[in-house]
Amino acid sequence: MYALMVLLIHYRVIPAYPEGAFEDGEVATVRILYALVSHMVSFFAVAYLASYLTENLRRTGRELELRRDDLAQLRELNDNIIDSINSGLLTSDWEGAITFANRAAAEITGRPAGDLARRNIVEVLGQERPFLWRIRSALEREKRFRFELDYADARGRDLFLGFTVSILRERSGVPLGMIFIFQDLTEIRALEEEVALKKRMAALGEMAAGVAHELRNPLASMSGSVQVLKRDLRLRGEAGDLMDIVVKESKRLDQIIRDFLLFAKPGRFQAENADLVAILRETLSLLENSEERRANHRVVTQFSPASIPVTVDVNRMKQVFWNLAKNALKAMPDGGTLTVRAADAIEGQVAVTFVDTGMGMSEQDIASNFQPFHGSFASGTGLGLAIVYRIIEEHGGRIKVKSRPGAGTEVALYLPRSAVTGQPAEERRWTGS
Ligand SMILES: Nc1ncnc2c1ncn2[C@@H]1O[C@H](COP(=O)(O)OP(=O)(O)OP(=O)(O)O)[C@@H](O)[C@H]1O
Ligand SMILES: [Mg+2]
Repeated sequence: MYALMVLLIHYRVIPAYPEGAFEDGEVATVRILYALVSHMVSFFAVAYLASYLTENLRRTGRELELRRDDLAQLRELNDNIIDSINSGLLTSDWEGAITFANRAAAEITGRPAGDLARRNIVEVLGQERPFLWRIRSALEREKRFRFELDYADARGRDLFLGFTVSILRERSGVPLGMIFIFQDLTEIRALEEEVALKKRMAALGEMAAGVAHELRNPLASMSGSVQVLKRDLRLRGEAGDLMDIVVKESKRLDQIIRDFLLFAKPGRFQAENADLVAILRETLSLLENSEERRANHRVVTQFSPASIPVTVDVNRMKQVFWNLAKNALKAMPDGGTLTVRAADAIEGQVAVTFVDTGMGMSEQDIASNFQPFHGSFASGTGLGLAIVYRIIEEHGGRIKVKSRPGAGTEVALYLPRSAVTGQPAEERRWTGS
C-alpha cells in the first residue's frame, strides 16, 4: 500500500504537493509538510492493515490447532474402537499381504500384531495359495464371503474360527484390498455338539426307560412264579441251589430296573420342611441291617448343630444318603471308618460330608463314575452316583469329591437350605479333585 502511494505520487496521479499560489519560501515548507502528512497517513494505513492481517493469521492458526486436536482425538477413538472389539480384524492387499491387524486378531491367532503385519494371510491361516484365489473370485461375485476354518494357533491351541471377508475400499470407492473379520467359535461349536449329544442321550434314555418299564411286569410274574415253585417243590441239593440262584438273580434284576427307572423317570419332586439330621439318622439306622455292613466297619457321626431345618424332597434325600453311605462301606471291604458330618455352611447353605477310609479312586474314575452304568464295585449296577448327581442338581446343590487311590474318599454335598427348584440345572457341574 505504501509502495502504491509512492508510485501514485511519482506518476503524479496524486499531486506531489498542493497546487496554489505560494511565496517562494512557503513552497518548500508546504511541500515538506504535505509529503510528511501523506507518508504518515500511508504508514498508519499500512500498520493497520498489517495488524489486521496478523490477527487474522493468529485466529486461523488457533482454529487449525483445534481441528488438529479433534482429528487426533477422532483417530484415537477409531483406534480404540477397533482394538476394543472382540472380533479379529485383518486388512490385506489383493495379494494377501497383511496391512493391519487389531488386538483381537493378535489374541486369536496367538501372534503379535506387528508380526502379523509382516506376513501373508495365506500363511497366517495355514492355507495354500488357491485359498486366496477362491476368496478373490467369491468377492467378484458377491459383496461378502463367509467361511469357517479349523485353526491351530501359534500357541498350539486347536480353534474353530468363523470368517467374513469383504472388499476394503477407499472413500472414493476405489478397491484397496480385503478386510477379514473373524471370531473364535470354538466354545460355541463345543456347546452345540454338547446340546446335540444331550438330545440324543435324552431320546435314548426315554427309549431305555420305556423298555425297562415293559420288562418289569413279566419279570415280576416270573419272579413270583419261581418263588411259589420253590415253596411247593421243596427242591434239595443241586436243584435247590439252582432254584435259589434263579430267585436271587430275579430279585437283583428287579432292583436294577427299579434303580434305572428311578434315574430315568424320577417322578414328581415334593419339597417339604424337614430336619436334615433326622433324615441322616434314619438312613444310617437302615444301613445297620444292609448286606454291606461288616463288624469291622465303624460309623462316626458329627452333626452340628444337632438339628438343621431344610426344605427338601425327603425321599430323594434318603436315596442320596443311602447311596453314598453304601458306596463308602463297599469301598472298605476289609473294614474302616465312615464319618458322616452335617453342618451349617456359609451363605444359607448346609454341608453334608461322607468320608471313608476305603480304596479311593483316581481323578479320571471320579469323572466317569458319575455316568450311569460306570463303576468298579462287584455288587452294583453303577447307577448310585448318577442318581445322587441328579437329585442334588434338582435341589440346586453342588457335589465336591476328594479322593485318591488307596487314600479314602470324601464326598461333600452343599445344599441350599430352602432354595428348592426341582429343576435340574444344566450348567451346574460336580467337581472332583
Ligand atoms: N466311596 C467310594 N470309594 C471308592 N470308590 C467309589 C466310592 N463311591 C463310588 N465309587 C466308585 O464309583 C463307582 C460308581 O458308584 P455308583 O454308586 O454309581 O455305582 P455302584 O455302587 O457300583 O452301583 P449301585 O450304586 O448302582 O449299586 C463304584 O462302582 C466305585 O467304583
Ligand atoms: Mg453305589
